[in-house]
Amino acid sequence: MLGTQTVSDEGHLMIGGVDTVDLAREFGTPLYIYDRASMRSKIKEFQSAFARYKDLDWQIAYASKAFSTIAMIQLANEYGLSLDVVSGGELYTALKAGFPAEKIHFHGNNKSDAELKLALESGVGLIIVDNFYELERLEAFCTISGKQMAVLLRVTPGVEAHTHEFIMTGHDDTKFGFNLDNGMADRAVHQTLQSPHLDLRGVHCHIGSQIFETEGFNQAVRLVLNAAATWKRDENFELQVLNVGGGFGIRYTREDHPLPVHRYIDQIVSTVREVCAAGSLHLPSIWIEPGRSIVGEAGTSLYTLGSTKNIPGIRDYISVDGGMADNIRPALYQAKYEALCANRAGDPAGHPVTIAGKCCETGDVLIQEALLPESCGSGDLLAVFSTGAYGYSMASHYNRLPNPAVVFVENGSAELVVRRETYEDLIRNDLPLKALSGRS
Ligand code: LLP
Repeated sequence: MLGTQTVSDEGHLMIGGVDTVDLAREFGTPLYIYDRASMRSKIKEFQSAFARYKDLDWQIAYASKAFSTIAMIQLANEYGLSLDVVSGGELYTALKAGFPAEKIHFHGNNKSDAELKLALESGVGLIIVDNFYELERLEAFCTISGKQMAVLLRVTPGVEAHTHEFIMTGHDDTKFGFNLDNGMADRAVHQTLQSPHLDLRGVHCHIGSQIFETEGFNQAVRLVLNAAATWKRDENFELQVLNVGGGFGIRYTREDHPLPVHRYIDQIVSTVREVCAAGSLHLPSIWIEPGRSIVGEAGTSLYTLGSTKNIPGIRDYISVDGGMADNIRPALYQAKYEALCANRAGDPAGHPVTIAGKCCETGDVLIQEALLPESCGSGDLLAVFSTGAYGYSMASHYNRLPNPAVVFVENGSAELVVRRETYEDLIRNDLPLKALSGRS
């Protein structure tokens, strides 16, 4: 179990001091439950990892794509984070949450005209420019509106890191950013510096997600700062900001062993220092953009178990009242999760079962093999752990399933932060045909 999870005397899973059986009764299932204390402690871990470096300027932007709701954005703001948004929708959510626009960084590889204009009008602090098409349009919009805009350029260092390995790709076959090794990034720096409206602050790179080692960050920082040394020489441009993105790994199952947050930060800081010293560069402000690592482990999905199917000699299936519509990650990435029977959390769990979703798709399986108590079956509650990142935010309406509610729990009380969708919500934007075709 993680964070503030415990088991009550009655054998019920408790999160943040709240009984999950009570949560199911009050808010229904499926339900996304977020442990506020867990999010807070993750944020503080990142902050204290940086705070030990007194001479360093740094910034932590929460990557809201992992989980964007008004309440979550408010929480990020409460702890003084900056915010990474990647769309007009995420930006709108942040603004509605009262997040200070000047602390918002706007990402995206294909920002629309409307999104760029919204970013300019709302006064976002910084735009992370991904490509030449965007650079030209942003310049044009700034010219028309007479606005100045601070920018970072997203560069692609040719390093890819995922989970347990990192790869130097050598070539940069990705839709994101200006490639470092083929002159694209150099041209982008040159072009941005010519602009009367764009204030180039530095560069950004993001090397992957669910990273369990530090070598990928190390290599990326070296490549980017080596390029920065040439920009200093050729363009007289010094980086003020080096944003190394997000990607810090979390624990989904007992096989995952993420590093303590400070290990990533220590590696990044020491490599930045070393390469800057060697290349006579000023120490830039170091920015990161954690998403999953702030909200992932804090989230638990609560389901009610329903139908069962026993295939002798093959497997036992048990279906939940949600599935790929509220958590696409197992179907999309073969992501693995662990689960527990929330109302029998104290019972020994030795019965292997396959947890299926209720969507009309064979691949709608949440967990290939979960161990549940023999006593656990239809009508019981299932808690699936570490679903806080990219679960709610990637939810769909497949099979017209309404999106579940979201509650935050802390110190024994629960707060509804997203209402459960209703059938009425599902058809809210549907329009009936103006005239039926008629059958002849
Ligand atoms: N910054 C940038 C530019 C990113 O593209 C991302 C994630 C992040 C920060 C945050 O990364 P994190 O700390 O959350 O790993 N849907 C996938 C993950 C996609 C991540 C996309 N970019 C999943 O469910 O695993």
